[in-house]
Amino acid sequence: MSRIHRVCVLGGGGFVGRTLCQQLVASGREVTVLSRRPERRRQLLTLPGVKLVKADVHQPAELEKYFSGMDAVINLIGILNEFRYQKFRDVHVRLPGNVMRACWKTEVPRLLHMSALHADAGTGMSEYLRTKGEAEQLLHVDAGDHLHVSRFRPSVIFGPEDQFFNRFAGLLRYSPWIFPLAAGRVKLSPVYVGDVAQAFIRTLEETASYDQRYDLCGPHEYTLKELVEYTAQLCGYKRKVIPLGNRISMLQAFFMEMLPGKPFTLDNYHSLQTGGDCSNDGLGMLGIDKTPVEAVVPSYLNSEHTRARYDMYRKFAGRGEERFQ
Ligand SMILES: NC(=O)c1ccc[n+]([C@@H]2O[C@H](COP(=O)([O-])OP(=O)(O)OC[C@H]3O[C@@H](n4cnc5c(N)ncnc54)[C@H](OP(=O)(O)O)[C@@H]3O)[C@@H](O)[C@H]2O)c1
Repeated sequence: MSRIHRVCVLGGGGFVGRTLCQQLVASGREVTVLSRRPERRRQLLTLPGVKLVKADVHQPAELEKYFSGMDAVINLIGILNEFRYQKFRDVHVRLPGNVMRACWKTEVPRLLHMSALHADAGTGMSEYLRTKGEAEQLLHVDAGDHLHVSRFRPSVIFGPEDQFFNRFAGLLRYSPWIFPLAAGRVKLSPVYVGDVAQAFIRTLEETASYDQRYDLCGPHEYTLKELVEYTAQLCGYKRKVIPLGNRISMLQAFFMEMLPGKPFTLDNYHSLQTGGDCSNDGLGMLGIDKTPVEAVVPSYLNSEHTRARYDMYRKFAGRGEERFQ
């Protein structure tokens, strides 16, 4: 049996979490997922060895209760937008601090933490990236000798249930012939969700990964315009994608931020300005072959699938602040 057998995953019901839980189970581990709304995460229960628990992860006592007896904790929790009931600082900084302290109290020796490419407390381009960077710094400086932390910094992540290609496919479907695109010239290096999950699995028991951080990027860099054009091509939509200049992009973000569900915000726009540069090649360091966009995306992007996704988006957006999951 592996040294690290019992793993508690926060955010395990999300897009990355579901793939990671599959890989943890496949590697023979027992997985406990904490969720605010387990009824929405029931598909995890099809995985043998996964326990799904309702918990308020913002309460330190709840964290201690469920961390007790665990060999490792993985924190995937993150948000793209702030709402009345959730702020970047609470989710990206306060929560990881509570997770770290709960690990100390319950003597959990291993913590894997999900951050984001270009997260930086000082120079991050957006509040999303600055708060993600603050948590990384906190864990790097304060974790201490008995809690071994590794941090992961992916570029945009793709896979069958992603919120990137699927969302653009939904938007393209109902757009007129011309598709104005904010930040169309920024560069991105999309990384496959299966490779991201594999990076977590490989480092779990790897002492060389203690206090390390890994940038996770795919094999190729594309402009956002190229990725959106590729999406349109796969879905069979004839659209002319027109990249907007900086000012008009910001104006678009300003107005879209006011729509239900906040499909695009000024903070999202600033996050995109960092580009895809991935100088610290985490997947390469971990010996993981990088899966290209072209090897996976055609398997899940087609007009039937995106119609269903878009209908679901409209349903959630209609409820006000709920995020499209
Ligand atoms: N997807 C990407 O392209 C990408 C790129 C770079 C970095 N990341 C980072 O990777 C992580 C996972 O991303 P993902 O795409 O899998 O996200 P996701 O599908 O939205 O899942 C996020 C999870 O976080 C939990 N969560 C969300 N808001 C919360 C809140 N206010 N309080 C407590 N828990 C909350 C949710 O758990 P419950 O609802 O079950 O409680 C959910 O399972 C995030 O930290 C994200 O910042 C993602």
